[in-house]
Amino acid sequence: MSSKRESPLEVFLNRHDDAAWRETLVTLLPAIHEVDRNAAQVWFHFYPLALLRAFQAAEDPARLAQELLMQGSWYLKDQLDASHTFLYGHRFWPEVKRAVVQLAGGVEIPNGRTLAEVVREVARAAAAERKVDESLTIGIAAVGLMALQQVGSEEFRRAPGEVLIDRRHLKRTPEEVLRERAKDEGQGLFGFLRTADRRWTVVWDENADDRRFKALDKQEVASGAQADKRPWHETDARCTVNEGPIPVQCRSASCGTCWVGVLGGADKLSETEWRERKVMPLFGYVETDDPKPLIRLSCQARAEGPVSVVIPPWNGYFGKYLKRVREGTSEEAVASS
Ligand code: FES
Repeated sequence: MSSKRESPLEVFLNRHDDAAWRETLVTLLPAIHEVDRNAAQVWFHFYPLALLRAFQAAEDPARLAQELLMQGSWYLKDQLDASHTFLYGHRFWPEVKRAVVQLAGGVEIPNGRTLAEVVREVARAAAAERKVDESLTIGIAAVGLMALQQVGSEEFRRAPGEVLIDRRHLKRTPEEVLRERAKDEGQGLFGFLRTADRRWTVVWDENADDRRFKALDKQEVASGAQADKRPWHETDARCTVNEGPIPVQCRSASCGTCWVGVLGGADKLSETEWRERKVMPLFGYVETDDPKPLIRLSCQARAEGPVSVVIPPWNGYFGKYLKRVREGTSEEAVASS
């Protein structure tokens, strides 16, 4: 953790771990606009606090990164503005950032205030400034506060606080985004009779019209992506030439490279099978009994309808390690005891 003096807001936030944040999100979910209900949860899976703390505590972070097979860009400080472009609320980021900075410069958070109440306070301020409904700013307000907790006040203030979506996509209403996600691809009046050549649209960036591909009915999402031969390795070094925009290695639920978050259509993906369920907690991505969770391995999840997913900018194998840290049996924990 940083040795710099923490603001009262950071002191308050640092009393909360990933589990406390998860509980807070559950409390807030009914108040979050549907357009961002999944996205907010996905973001919190993409940037776990415990992983950051493990790196901050490590004597040799580069060695730890090797041990955890980390690939891509996992530090939130390197992508403070870009990490949440997949939230509809990203367009209110400048206002949310201002509200968080203002709160961070204020006095102690009164005893008894809950994290959910603090999130709502930031969301209310941002919504009032932009004259939008608060339901649209709650998800991004939670993101803003967790971001402050992870990077500290100084770094947080320094981030440009930019909106990174083009003007045309910025203009879309939440209803338009939801309609687009729910677009029925029944493929004609007698579509249900055609099974062999059915194809589903998989969108992997809702802010760019060319970032989508077709998957055959019941085809693994990552296999559908393979048909896109554009040079995605130039955008994401984890991608392999001619393998599409989703980074993949094993295609057999062993490496964890291909994980994605589901923004829309989670129910249109096949249920998790035992292998995906077994490895997800080992990777550290998600631990859930939900047969259709919001975090999936795209080499396992099969498309049975249109879906909207988001590709995280990194992957790793850290669940086992964090468990050892929690239990005090990691090398680092043993060395410091
Ligand atoms: S490609 Fe290895 S787990 Fe999916």
